[in-house]
Amino acid sequence: MAVKNRIADMQPEIAAWRQDLHAHPELRFDLPRTTAKVAGLLRDFGVDEITEGVGRAGIVAVIRGRRTDSGRVLGFRADMDALPILEATGADYASQVEGKMHACGHDGHTAVLLGAAKYLAETRNFDGTVVLAFQPAEEGGGGARAMIEDGLMDRWGIQEIYGLHNFPGIPVGQFAIKDGPMLAAADFFEITVRGKGGHGAQPHVSVDSTLAGAAIVMAMQQVVARNVDPLQPAVVSMTGFQTETMAHNVIPASVKLTGTVRTFHVPTKELVRDRMKAIAESTAAAYGAEVDFAYFDGVLPTINATDPTGYARAAAESVTGQAPLDLPPSMGGEDFSEMLAVRPGAFIILGNGPSADLHHPEYNFNDEAIPAGSSWFATLAEQRMPLSN
Ligand code: NI
Repeated sequence: MAVKNRIADMQPEIAAWRQDLHAHPELRFDLPRTTAKVAGLLRDFGVDEITEGVGRAGIVAVIRGRRTDSGRVLGFRADMDALPILEATGADYASQVEGKMHACGHDGHTAVLLGAAKYLAETRNFDGTVVLAFQPAEEGGGGARAMIEDGLMDRWGIQEIYGLHNFPGIPVGQFAIKDGPMLAAADFFEITVRGKGGHGAQPHVSVDSTLAGAAIVMAMQQVVARNVDPLQPAVVSMTGFQTETMAHNVIPASVKLTGTVRTFHVPTKELVRDRMKAIAESTAAAYGAEVDFAYFDGVLPTINATDPTGYARAAAESVTGQAPLDLPPSMGGEDFSEMLAVRPGAFIILGNGPSADLHHPEYNFNDEAIPAGSSWFATLAEQRMPLSN
């Protein structure tokens, strides 16, 4: 097998949808043009059901196979949102909205799944049901969780869920996947250190929040080095340090520290969070200061289930004629993790060729990856839900 011939023929049409989405990027849940385009195309394809406004701005579409005796229901997800970045690709279909761009290739993910939808609605060579989930707000905002809370899995009876993400540096149209944890939980925190403001010339009558904050930044590096199991991946990055005033002669009354925590396992995350809180409080106390420690749970770790990873791998191999690459785990985060936390499934990486990095102003989705991506979804449906004779 290989890339589906019908899908290869559709590549220019799918690329045109992609470039149109690219020219009109929209953010988070505010996707009126994008969702109108996606829903309009799905209607043209003749899918069996379309529901808009799922999880505020998500779209769910249903395509039933020639038979549905198997009772099997596969979910396929694509994200639709762009980023607040000023585009610098120079493409003739570059963003027409200053300060917004499709810098993570979600335009490509949406177009790839639309291509698969058109093929599947035409051919229906499977025994079961495909549920397409076009998701808002992957780039912050919790779009996956919003769709799940609106009943994505239960209302449509999804049994397994699959998705893909393009990745620069992997040969275009090649796949990479990993069984088990592949992307990290991504949390963030904000620590306010409260001292007693005063004159820079009279430190002895103030409580120096800058000094206490600096000590906390240094002490936080001990959590991963001294508390976390060396065989468990974890990152604590203190990324922001903001004093209340920048005057040369004022000791500020408070400072604010921000940062991110990346982990793969819940017990590690909880250990890191609890140690950070204890260190922040006790270090501040050593300087006579106090802290407000706020920790926010971000996305869960992205964990592929074993059997679905096998199906995803087999479909990729059918499309490209070679086994997918082994993907090293990364401390990046992805909110498809929320879907994998409630249903077995798999997330696969689709090579974007030698492009700029994700979230870079010169990044662009590679339209040459479309036939492989759309064929992967289509092949997965046909292989996982075969029509028996
Ligand atoms: Ni992305």
